[in-house]
Amino acid sequence: MTKKTILITGASSGLGEEMARQFADRGHDLALCARRTDRLEALRKELEGKHPGGRFEVRALDVNDDDAVFEVFRAFKADFGSIDRVVVNAGLGKGAPLGSGRYDANRQTAMTNFVAALAQSEAAMEIFREQGTGHLVLISSMSAMRGMPKAGTVYAATKAGVATLAEGLRMELRGKPIEVSVIYPGYIRSEMNEKVKNAPFMVSTEKGVHAMVEAIEKGKAHAEVPAWPWVPLGYAIRNLPLSLVRRMMG
Ligand SMILES: NC(=O)c1ccc[n+]([C@@H]2O[C@H](COP(=O)([O-])OP(=O)(O)OC[C@H]3O[C@@H](n4cnc5c(N)ncnc54)[C@H](OP(=O)(O)O)[C@@H]3O)[C@@H](O)[C@H]2O)c1
Repeated sequence: MTKKTILITGASSGLGEEMARQFADRGHDLALCARRTDRLEALRKELEGKHPGGRFEVRALDVNDDDAVFEVFRAFKADFGSIDRVVVNAGLGKGAPLGSGRYDANRQTAMTNFVAALAQSEAAMEIFREQGTGHLVLISSMSAMRGMPKAGTVYAATKAGVATLAEGLRMELRGKPIEVSVIYPGYIRSEMNEKVKNAPFMVSTEKGVHAMVEAIEKGKAHAEVPAWPWVPLGYAIRNLPLSLVRRMMG
């Protein structure tokens, strides 16, 4: 397997942190960012202990700071000489029913999950266009498959936006050596859902991220992960009448 340099945003916890571990296990070098640098430093130490031949750089980044996104991505590119893959993973799961007085929470979700994902994609694509190669990976969600009610409405809309961004880019880049993947995770245990007791089909962080990393390494254009039960459920969510989807999603 060819060693790659992979930049991951939101690497301080949950899926991003575990992707870092599993990509490092596969021999890749990593550029890791998030706001909680203490956690990034601890992760770097762990990875350096386990993989003495690997290179692991960490930087503080708030993805809602547009200028910082471009600066940090360029600084990582300068560190390593090139960046082979960028995983746009930073995100949050806040939200409230529209009109319930929590525009602040919905706006924060929209800015972090969509506008900041756009900034990260712009910064990554600048690097990839200059290099002539690269792999952009956008982390969407199964909730992108259909509009979602209540606290999930804005979250689902942002994740559908992220998936559409990926599809447009993929259409543009067809036949060129810049790949674009969109990953639709089902319920995977992380900080985002640590208080959720009975989410259906919830899998451990390790198992869920293993499915994500397999799909990413294969360069899949899109992947619902883990495939079971999310591929058939995704089909159902996209195609059933809204009344039935509403009953399925609670
Ligand atoms: N877990 C699931 O079941 C699931 C399902 C579908 C999709 N997803 C998606 O997977 C991605 C990772 O989520 P997770 O489940 O791993 O949640 P998590 O454990 O809460 O991790 C979220 C990560 O995003 C980072 N982040 C949040 N806001 C940020 C900001 N403004 N600037 C920089 N980094 C920021 C956090 O780092 P700091 O706080 O240190 O900055 C953290 O590393 C998200 O995009 C989420 O929507 C998760």
